[in-house]
Amino acid sequence: MNREQRFAELERRRAEALAGGGAERVAKQHAKGCLTARERVELLLDPGSFVELGTYVTHRSTDFGMDRRRVTGDGVVAGWGTVDSRTVYVFAQDFTVFGGTMSEANARKICAIMDLAMDNGAPIVGLNDSGGARIQEGVLSLGAYAEVFLRNTLASGVVPQISAILGPCAGGAVYSPAITDFTLMVEGTSAMFVTGPEVIKAVTAEEVSFEDLGGAMTHNSKSGVAHFLAEDDADCLRHIRRLLSFLPANNLEDAPRRAATDPVDRRDPDLRGVVPDASDQPYDMKDVVRRVVDDGDFFEVHEHFAQNLIVGFARLNGRSVGVIGNQPRVLAGVLDIDSSVKGARFVRFCDAFNLPLVTLEDVPGFLPGTRQEWGGIIRHGAKLLYAYCEATVPKLTVVVRKAYGGAYDVMSSKHIRGDYNVAWPTAEMAVMGADGAVNILYREEIAKARDPAAERRRLIAEYNDKFASPWVAAELGYLDDVIEPQDTRPKLIAALEMLRSKRQTLPFKKHGNPPL
Ligand code: HXC
Repeated sequence: MNREQRFAELERRRAEALAGGGAERVAKQHAKGCLTARERVELLLDPGSFVELGTYVTHRSTDFGMDRRRVTGDGVVAGWGTVDSRTVYVFAQDFTVFGGTMSEANARKICAIMDLAMDNGAPIVGLNDSGGARIQEGVLSLGAYAEVFLRNTLASGVVPQISAILGPCAGGAVYSPAITDFTLMVEGTSAMFVTGPEVIKAVTAEEVSFEDLGGAMTHNSKSGVAHFLAEDDADCLRHIRRLLSFLPANNLEDAPRRAATDPVDRRDPDLRGVVPDASDQPYDMKDVVRRVVDDGDFFEVHEHFAQNLIVGFARLNGRSVGVIGNQPRVLAGVLDIDSSVKGARFVRFCDAFNLPLVTLEDVPGFLPGTRQEWGGIIRHGAKLLYAYCEATVPKLTVVVRKAYGGAYDVMSSKHIRGDYNVAWPTAEMAVMGADGAVNILYREEIAKARDPAAERRRLIAEYNDKFASPWVAAELGYLDDVIEPQDTRPKLIAALEMLRSKRQTLPFKKHGNPPL
């Protein structure tokens, strides 16, 4: 080959890599409302920042006619680039090439960028669109998956890992996202399942549609497998950019600090009226969050799942924080199995990545009932308790209204190393609510009373006077302060500043054994 031929060969191969599975399959991808792998990478990263690795890799299989079907790049586009000028490693499965399936060769490309991400301490974003293990490769492709799963596990808690599901993700394709920190799905075009509708029908005779089984809303609202719901590919990639803006590059760094325009001493007088007079009346905890954080900007995680607990990212004086709040609008804000698991995972993520935890508490307790007890609320509730106990990042807690029973202990109480625990004057802190307590303590007295209903009302009022306030806890030092609601923002910012260099350790161990 002369020099000109060598350049021509490079051009030819480049063109092949860009063509993916060919014009026809690309058109099919677009007709589904989906972008191609390369279009996705371009939209995710800052313009012109993508540097591709392993562009010319092809598979090595010869079985099933695969020797005649080699495609440059082998169905994965991988490399690095920047998001808001910060380095991010990315891989995107190309559904137009063998359905984006995992092969020995393309797994090596994915593993290579995961290794780079670990060595250099930057997030990994996986753009998944795959039919799972490449059937023609047999156990080679299963081994390839395992190589990826191992790296996902080793990277967990070291660099943030984000998975977008942008098409059908079947079989092995679901387990890498499941290990990562956040999963995003697109309405109408993405699905995740271990076994598809046809297999389910054959095995259990159950009939279920693709969408109902593993569609975006199913996993966002029912299973909790997905954390974000996007309208389309572009919206999903925008979500990822926004999510990254709250996160540090790795577990040894702090999240980037934004120049705050929202005044540190902003006091929102309307916070005084948020909690209704009647203790059983709902209000929206998200409204409280927005009134406290910078510019009302709350980036909710798991918005559609276990809505009795809200979790998400926000900033206070430009610093990223993880916010956890009981939501009185849904199930009165009780803790149940799903919300405990949701909260535990979020707390652990924040703790791993140096994000202070701000807890807004209004919790009447754990949800009673056989479904919860038999479903294991004991071990699931313990996950949230364990996560809060273990967390060593700054922990700030505001008891907005109820802090009853075990849930009081769980929700970042002083006793489990809460750093700054305050309450609004509307707080109620006791073993249980007045109704339940009076029934247990005074059943006989009430029954014997001349007017049982009046006696019950009197006893409830007496109990509420004693316990339905923050004052017993404040006198015991379980609260650091009782604050005016409108002071919440400045007080939290001041505490965060004080805790800026907090260092707290755990006893040496290989790892703990949380009730998984
Ligand atoms: C090889 C595959 C493939 C696979 C799809 N293709 N899945 N090739 N191995 N697993 C190929 C198709 O042959 C086709 O090739 C192209 O990808 C697009 O597939 P279509 O079926 O035409 O597309 P669509 O109708 O959109 O359906 C997509 C799909 C379906 C839902 C993903 O293909 C499907 O159900 N595939 C099998 C999914 C599955 O069961 N995977 C589990 C594998 S086992 P051409 O050449 O026509 O474009 C597994 C275990 C790993 O993953 C365990 C690790 C823990």
